[in-house]
Amino acid sequence: MGDTPLLFTPLRLAGLTARNRVVVSPMCQYSSERGGPTDWHLVHLGKFALGGAGIVFCEETAVEERARKTYGCAGIYDDRHISMYRRITDFLRNHGSIPAMQLGHSGRKASCGPPWTNFTPLTTKDAKEGRVPWHGVSASAIPPREGAPAPVELSTAEIKMVVARWREAALRTLEAGFDILEIHGAHGYLVHQFLSPLANRRTDAYGGDLAGRMRFALEVTEAVRAAWPRGKPLFFRVSAVDGDGGAWGMDDTVVLARELRTRGVDVVTCSSGGISGPLNMAIVPRVPGYQVLYAERVRREAGLMTCAVGLITEARQAEDVLQRGQADLIALARELLYNPNWPVHAARELGVPDYLDLLPPAYAWWLKRREKIREISSPAAVGAASDKR
Ligand SMILES: Cc1cc2nc3c(=O)[nH]c(=O)nc-3n(C[C@H](O)[C@H](O)[C@H](O)COP(=O)(O)O)c2cc1C
Repeated sequence: MGDTPLLFTPLRLAGLTARNRVVVSPMCQYSSERGGPTDWHLVHLGKFALGGAGIVFCEETAVEERARKTYGCAGIYDDRHISMYRRITDFLRNHGSIPAMQLGHSGRKASCGPPWTNFTPLTTKDAKEGRVPWHGVSASAIPPREGAPAPVELSTAEIKMVVARWREAALRTLEAGFDILEIHGAHGYLVHQFLSPLANRRTDAYGGDLAGRMRFALEVTEAVRAAWPRGKPLFFRVSAVDGDGGAWGMDDTVVLARELRTRGVDVVTCSSGGISGPLNMAIVPRVPGYQVLYAERVRREAGLMTCAVGLITEARQAEDVLQRGQADLIALARELLYNPNWPVHAARELGVPDYLDLLPPAYAWWLKRREKIREISSPAAVGAASDKR
């Protein structure tokens, strides 16, 4: 290994430099109010910046009101949201992290309760408590699972309107002070619904063969890229494999990634699953680093940067992925919920001498002092001093 581990070597991304390659993966919090972020988000995301992450992603954030999954989901579909996010982006940047936004549209997975209700579709009972159900939209009128209501199939004119919503959301994201934008094209949400033959049975230009099913994803990408400055990185999250039935596989993902590259996408984040089967996404074996091979293949065959995610929890594991050239960035989700200071611990484990400098000075000064005291008072140091006497 070289002097500085790759995980803590700054990375140039379009016109920006991330202080390290640790990414806080987007995590829905179901704590938004009328789409807007709350104090919860400032504290939740802020602590990852204080813990030294290079890039901090906000959760999937809806490009239009009906694109939310639940009433607690985040959105950036109204200008009033801009200043609410600005408070968060200022905080993240002031503490050394790149503020990043994931834009999404739940499509047919709309109008349900949070995960702890197993995403149960809203009913008239919820309506009585103020949570009125609404219609999801999708490529085709196919329910996301048995017993769920069928979504409304989007007409061609409506597809254009949804693409326009993505563009407007990208402009608001820019105004809110974000430096990275990720298009959520994974996990069975609207973009993925168009990609997958399991959810897309259209016979017009937006369905049929791979080129037809990719059309919506690519139009969204073009609209967002046109609104998002070249100097700011654009990410795209894919479900590299559907998981169930093999309807979308790695060969499709490589074709898509090449198209994304020509449209100015800088990084592809490789996740999996979500279009069918259990709502909790991938139906691939959940072993450590279970999606790294997807990131590796996209990086090698589509020629763009990739972000690996999924059960990466150990510093050496993350460093090995980078050293082997399997990905350029490492995203963590649940491990950071467990330990928001993971980057500091990882830097120490990988031998970064000034690892405490990942923390804010108000913490680092005290901890460095404590280390000095420990060094002086360690049994070895005390023994050496008494030998000299
Ligand atoms: C609480 C929670 C919320 C999540 N929300 C999102 C989300 O908004 N967008 C997304 O792309 N993935 C989301 N995910 C998936 C994670 O970003 C990540 O891909 C997945 O948890 C695997 O990484 P891990 O093993 O490090 O947790 C969520 C995961 C968790 C645990």
